[in-house]
Formats: sequence, structure tokens, C-alpha cells
Amino acid sequence: MAHRVVTLPGDGIGPEIMMPTLELLGRLGSFEFEELPFGGASIDLHGTALTEEVLDTCRRADAVLLAAVGGPKWDTTDPGAPRPEQGLLALRSGLGLYANLRPVRPLPALYDASPLRRERIEGTDLLVVRELTGGIYFGEKSRTDERASDVCEYTVAEVERIARTAFGAARAKVSSVDKANVLETSRLWREVVTRVHAREFPHIQLEHLLVDNAAMQLVASPRHFEVILTENMFGDILSDEAAMLTGSIGLLPSASLGDSASRAESASRGRGHAPGTRTPGLFEPVHGSAPDIAGTGVANPLAMFLSAALMLRHGLALESEAAAVESAVDRALAAGLRTPDLGGAAGTAEATRAVLENL
Ligand code: IPM
Ligand code: MG
Repeated sequence: MAHRVVTLPGDGIGPEIMMPTLELLGRLGSFEFEELPFGGASIDLHGTALTEEVLDTCRRADAVLLAAVGGPKWDTTDPGAPRPEQGLLALRSGLGLYANLRPVRPLPALYDASPLRRERIEGTDLLVVRELTGGIYFGEKSRTDERASDVCEYTVAEVERIARTAFGAARAKVSSVDKANVLETSRLWREVVTRVHAREFPHIQLEHLLVDNAAMQLVASPRHFEVILTENMFGDILSDEAAMLTGSIGLLPSASLGDSASRAESASRGRGHAPGTRTPGLFEPVHGSAPDIAGTGVANPLAMFLSAALMLRHGLALESEAAAVESAVDRALAAGLRTPDLGGAAGTAEATRAVLENL
């Protein structure tokens, strides 16, 4: 049976990197793609970044593949105006996708493309597990002429479930990142993570780091980390920082999973549980819509390809197809493929050809 995938190309370079990704997927299996407007494109059509219809269609899909949203056209500080990013937050929360996985694995072929020295990043292989539907991004907001506020809130249940995702994904070690010396939510975070660890995952090593120190350690000794477990905003910031270990944010994919999708994942890792069928996962590159290069044909499609690989693995339980995409990307880079963000001249079409040739 064909896998039903909703595709949301979004804005900027989004459509340009989505198109070759569908071509790539078409080589690997039978998919039914349904493309829908999202982000700025949806604001232009419907006045809102995510319509109820699109959310409903996503709910019924097997997986959702998203490219990128946003652009200067919709950039505003007017609190009343719709923003493309609101669509992203509404989609994540509407699908219950609380677990955001951002693997960071610099390739040997790209060690010299990183602003960090080779000996610093060599052997880095880490996973950022970011809580995605709570915290300050989702707390109550207020604004008057004289003041503004964003509330940061976490419940025990929210921290427990993301902690389980992180410990479940770890082989040996979890670094939990918070700001427990200042923030009450971080003190709750630390207590709950400690408890989940002691009760359910005592065989995994757990350390707690303050976020400012973690930001420093991430560039000073990235090999120190295996799984970084953190809340929504810290994870947003640390994952962009971690991206530079790979040389470019144009290489970083992400998977956002809810309950049944994470069950499918633990099943595929041989940890019991039947694969769930509801709550499709959402798969998207970590980078944005890069409006400055949109339409010029130079966008790097690799993070989008690697996001499709995460969809194959975590969303559709197609592990060997996922591995095929990842190794095709690795081999294309090893053979010298370099897009402009990696200091080369290959455009989107050339990068696509190089990956397809290695598939
Ligand atoms: C990301 C992005 C989004 C986020 C923005 C576009 C809302 O930066 O996925 O990291 O902050 O989550
Ligand atoms: Mg971000």
C-alpha cells in the first residue's frame, strides 16, 4: 500500500528543495503525496498560516514532510498580524509532536568545512532531543505599549515524556540542559529528569548542565555529548549552534514525534510496543526558508533529503530505505559535492543529481 505523505513546501527555498526530495522518495517506494499550502503561502491564500483543513489532512496522513516557512513579506512586529511561524507552532502542537530529534553527525568529508578545527569535531555524533510543544513558545503572551511578557510553563507530565524519549534514544549518556540556578521551570525539569532516570533508566549515565555552560561545551568539546535533553527554547538555540559542527545548517534534518510515532520508533529499535498508527510524525530541515537565495537555484537540498530519511525511518518504519538515502548523501559529499554554503558551487539540481547517482 502506498504511504500517504502530506507535503508542505512552504516559502522561500521550500518548494525548490521539496521537489527533488519527492523525486528521491519516488525511487525508493510507493508514496501518495498531497501538497498543501502552509506558512506564508497559506497566509496569502487564506489569511492564516495553518488552516483547519490542512491540519486535519495532516492528522490523517502517515507522515508530514515540511520544507521551510517565513520571509520578509510576512515579517512584522505587529502582534495582530499572522506570521508563518505561527503555522509551524500550531502544526507541532496540533499533532501533539512534543519530541523533536535533531541528530548532529559531522561527516569526515566535511571536517574542514566546519569553522571549528578538525581535531575538535572529529568523532562527534550527538542527538539533540528538544521538547517541542511546551515552555515559553507556548505560554500566555501579553503586550501593551509599555510592556510585554511571555510565560514559561512546564508540567511534570510534559517533562516526563520528553525525558523518556531522550533516555530511550541514548546508548550510554544523557546530558540534561537547564537553567536551574535561575528558573523555576528548570528546577522542576531537573527534579523530574532525575526521578525518571532513577526509576526507569538507571543504566544510562545522567548529567545536568546549565545552558550557558552547555553552549560553551558544545563547541569546546562536542564529543563530550551523546544525547542532549532540553526544553523548547534552549533546544532551538543549541541545535543551531550544533549545526555548525557539521559545517552548515544546510545539512541538519529533524524529526518531530508524538506518542504513536515514538512508539513506532521504539518498536523499530526492538524495545517492544506495536507500531502506532495515529499521530503522524513531522519531518523538516532545521534551517529556514533562506529568502535571500530563493529562486536562484543554489539552495542546498541535503538537509531536506536527510529529513526525508528520518521520515522513512521514524515515520514509516522503512529503515533500509532511510539508510540508503543517508549513505547516498554521505557518498556524494565524499566524492566532492559542495553546495555554496559548504564553499562550493553546486546548485540544487547538481546536488540532487549527485545524490541520486549514489542511491
Ligand atoms: C526551528 C525554527 C522554529 C522554532 C521557528 C521557525 C518557529 O527556528 O524549527 O528551530 O523556533 O522552533
Ligand atoms: Mg530554530
